[in-house]
Amino acid sequence: MQERGKFYITTPIYYPSDNLHIGHAYCSTAADSMARFKKLTGYDTYFLTGTDEHGAKIERKAKEKGVTPQAYVDHIVAGIKDLWKLMDISYDDFIRTTDQRHVECVQRVFRKLYENGDIYKSEYEGWYCTPCESFWTELQLKDGCCPDCGRPVERAKEESYFFRMSKYQDWMIQYIQEHPDFIQPPSRTNEMINNFLKPGLEDLCVSRTSIKWGIPVDFDSKHTVYVWVDALTNYISALGFGTEHDELYRKYWPADVHLVGKEIVRFHSIIWPIMLHAIGEPLPKQIFGHGWLVINGKKMGKSVGNVVDPVVLCNRYSSDAVRYFLMREMPFGSDGEFTLQSMLTRINADLANDLGNLVSRTVAMIEKYYDGTLPELGKVEDVDRTLWQEALETPGKVENSVNAFQFSSALSEIWQLIGDCNKYIDVTSPWILAKSEEGKERLSTVLYTLAECVRRVAVMVGFVMPRTPERIFAQLGLEEEALKTWVSVAEGDFARLRAGTRVHKGEALFPRLDIQKELERDAPKEEPKKAEPKGEEKKPAGKSHHEVEYPAEISIDDFAKVKLQVARVIACEKVEKSKKLLKLQLSLGPDGQRQVLSGIAAWYTPEEMVGKQVVLVSNLKPAKLAGYESQGMVLCAATGDDSKLKLLTVEEGMDDGAVIS
Ligand code: ME8
Repeated sequence: MQERGKFYITTPIYYPSDNLHIGHAYCSTAADSMARFKKLTGYDTYFLTGTDEHGAKIERKAKEKGVTPQAYVDHIVAGIKDLWKLMDISYDDFIRTTDQRHVECVQRVFRKLYENGDIYKSEYEGWYCTPCESFWTELQLKDGCCPDCGRPVERAKEESYFFRMSKYQDWMIQYIQEHPDFIQPPSRTNEMINNFLKPGLEDLCVSRTSIKWGIPVDFDSKHTVYVWVDALTNYISALGFGTEHDELYRKYWPADVHLVGKEIVRFHSIIWPIMLHAIGEPLPKQIFGHGWLVINGKKMGKSVGNVVDPVVLCNRYSSDAVRYFLMREMPFGSDGEFTLQSMLTRINADLANDLGNLVSRTVAMIEKYYDGTLPELGKVEDVDRTLWQEALETPGKVENSVNAFQFSSALSEIWQLIGDCNKYIDVTSPWILAKSEEGKERLSTVLYTLAECVRRVAVMVGFVMPRTPERIFAQLGLEEEALKTWVSVAEGDFARLRAGTRVHKGEALFPRLDIQKELERDAPKEEPKKAEPKGEEKKPAGKSHHEVEYPAEISIDDFAKVKLQVARVIACEKVEKSKKLLKLQLSLGPDGQRQVLSGIAAWYTPEEMVGKQVVLVSNLKPAKLAGYESQGMVLCAATGDDSKLKLLTVEEGMDDGAVIS
């Protein structure tokens, strides 16, 4: 493939905390997926990650543990590298802010700013948030506390060096306005301009004398460089900026994108560009601020205590499955709710069913009807050509989406093809074709088409699921490296696999999980004793209508808050120890799957429920009923005395997930 240029991507450098959580893994997985995709599509790619190891917090923690800060961070950084290995994060370099190469680079940058007159000595008094290592102005405080983490701030006063940010305020505003792609998604541009730049940039305090664990200012060593100036410089120190060996810097800078969480966009899109501009270096092309993984609406984080350990998830469900879920479930840029249930549902639906079944059915049929040897194309019909066309068009769509950081859309394009392949099996019915001589002319075409589509899918999923392609290629018996490349799916004609190749049925790519068992695995063994009634006694679907006092009228806005959707019952079972509840697994079509508990066991059997379309209040806050999570409410009509109850449904032919309004 012809090289298409260079691509330099970075993650933030992580604070060395004992355990990185799945929220951190989200950022690295996205950067890694992007880096892999760019490599695959012909870019000379460089992917940097690392750790941000200085500051008062680390100093304090090391002291608590009775070790030196260096020993403390060394141990943690080793664990972070193990995690990235487990998750196949394929970085090209790992920069530590304690690396000598970084220390020297920060000192050079600081000195240059000083020599240019952009750093001067004065006295600082301001509000400092120690956990966030951030200074805040009075205006920026939220209820007197740190606007980022909400914790108390302290008044700090000391001799400090200052960086003349104020001088660059107008330049920065103009730059951002003239480069609409600089900060992404676009909503963050307005936030930066309106909340941080327009109110006025103050000069930034860039050294502390009270903090020792950091990089000393080399011309005034009682001062330690402010951690953000230290940390941001990693993006160029790793490339050898300012040294004799700055080949990487000359080749890869400016970065194509700094991928960061939304709360640190402001450091990257204001302080960092001004620093670079002040030393006469080009700015990164883009800062992309992604959303957070949240649990019950709260950012996953150690201080909130709601963290999920990626090591446990990867060891249980495979890193490819975890990576897939992270990139598929939430639109990149927005916050996304993390639940184990939704992850397991995705694994079963998308990986075990859609992808896993397509691969195993295709290989099994080639084994059954052609003794394991890939047949040549036979008679071709429109139904085949339509699928070929889709397979040829999918890579372009995937590329557009990935380039816009829309990983979820990219994967849904691929899954559209997978779904259409599965439909193609049903429509062409190979088992019927196998029964007649005439049918056999078609059978070879159908199976060849499927095998070729499976190959294409395998190539396309690799940037998110790096271990899966080889497992699929092994089943297809594909060894030819040229057929594992992006070019082999993005360019040329459809039929590329060599007929005569021997396929090998392997183990299931993603074994089907027993979701209930998995959820119970981590549930506390003993029910906590609570005063509130258990699910059984609670009114599962809220109060009966005769118990509720309704207002005489409500506004259309009140009604519009309720999201009603058509959902199909795909599985249903009784809840043990409950006479009233049924546990329903619902499909909302493109909006995924849900588990809902409904107090209808007296009126409907589980068997009757499966296949029914129901009406779901889909934006109802999830609740626990009888120990199970219920994500929504199924609507029923009931008589005042509850003697009769009927489910609400829609007329036949409506799509699952359709919104009712
Ligand atoms: O901010 N969901 O480090 P950090 C999504 N050292 N992303 C999350 C997340 C969540 N629940 N929790 C954390 C720092 N992250 C600085 C960076 S760069 C020069 C210095 C993301 O370890 C977070 O948004 O606190 C950030 O992008 C990254 O993890 C590192 O966070």
